[in-house]
Amino acid sequence: MDQTVVLITGCSSGIGLSLAVRLASDPSKIYKVYATMRDLAKKKRLMDCVKDSHKDTMDVLQMDITHHQSILDVRDGIKEKRVDILVCNAGVGLVGPLESQSMEMMRQILEVNVLGTIRTIQTFLPGMKARGSGRVLVTGSIGGLQGLPFNEIYCASKFAVEGVCESLAILLQHFNIHVSLIECGPVNTDFLANLRRTEPGDASLSQADARTRALYATYLQHCDTMFQDAAQEAGDIVQVFLEAIEAQSPALRYYTNSALLPLTTLKLAARDGSQYVKAMNKFIFSIDKAGDC
Ligand SMILES: NC(=O)c1ccc[n+]([C@@H]2O[C@H](COP(=O)([O-])OP(=O)(O)OC[C@H]3O[C@@H](n4cnc5c(N)ncnc54)[C@H](OP(=O)(O)O)[C@@H]3O)[C@@H](O)[C@H]2O)c1
Repeated sequence: MDQTVVLITGCSSGIGLSLAVRLASDPSKIYKVYATMRDLAKKKRLMDCVKDSHKDTMDVLQMDITHHQSILDVRDGIKEKRVDILVCNAGVGLVGPLESQSMEMMRQILEVNVLGTIRTIQTFLPGMKARGSGRVLVTGSIGGLQGLPFNEIYCASKFAVEGVCESLAILLQHFNIHVSLIECGPVNTDFLANLRRTEPGDASLSQADARTRALYATYLQHCDTMFQDAAQEAGDIVQVFLEAIEAQSPALRYYTNSALLPLTTLKLAARDGSQYVKAMNKFIFSIDKAGDC
């Protein structure tokens, strides 16, 4: 039987690495994984995790999702000449007051999270359409469903990805291609270490007023608490990916963290959004109504 060919972006660490390891180590050897990363110098961590169990089930290829040619090179280097399951996972966070963000930094985040994801899908979609089958899985975020203070640009990027996927999901039903978003809350990966974050001592923070700076300090504490109390492990997320991969009729959205569902549900159900804004102020800043300190 032919192996199911899976291409995953962002496999140097975190969710991408864990998913690549899980699929490449599957005892049935039904998956052939193309684990891609932008810097092959980081390959060792992945190789240490798969040990010897990856012969015939994994190839590691260089791919930077912001460089179109590198995506094309990967596509052309796939021995099976097809991708059955495309996993768009690579992404990067950005945290800080909006006033402290440079245009260049905001562009970089949007370039990776939005255009990089779109470019990757664009590249592999024609093959899937021609074959009349395929799966596109995207590592989404709660930040793509609900606004989070001091994450404006990251949320903008993840909201954009939601729009792309939801729009495609409708059209791609006609081609027997399923699109699924795996919506994650905090996950213990290298995400925090890799995210671009305005630090309390950064000169750019002076662009924001004193009240915003104080709220930002509170937010950073809230963030630490969230990661301590509610963060999942990459393995938990992999289980949700597997559920989506194995489903006969995959859902458009899978939520990985039930602890976060009440706020997400409130956001999705709220017509005018004001209840959500109040609930978030209470949750993060312990403020009952706007103007309270
Ligand atoms: N961890 C969380 O709390 C969390 C929550 C919600 C959603 N997510 C989403 O989950 C996804 C995976 O993140 P993670 O948690 O596993 O964090 P991670 O450990 O930082 O992994 C991110 C991966 O993306 C790669 N990447 C960044 N820019 C790239 C580019 N231009 N081309 C190719 N790869 C690139 C990184 O490669 P380098 O090593 O080369 O930088 C790394 O392999 C992201 O889309 C993120 O937004 C994470």
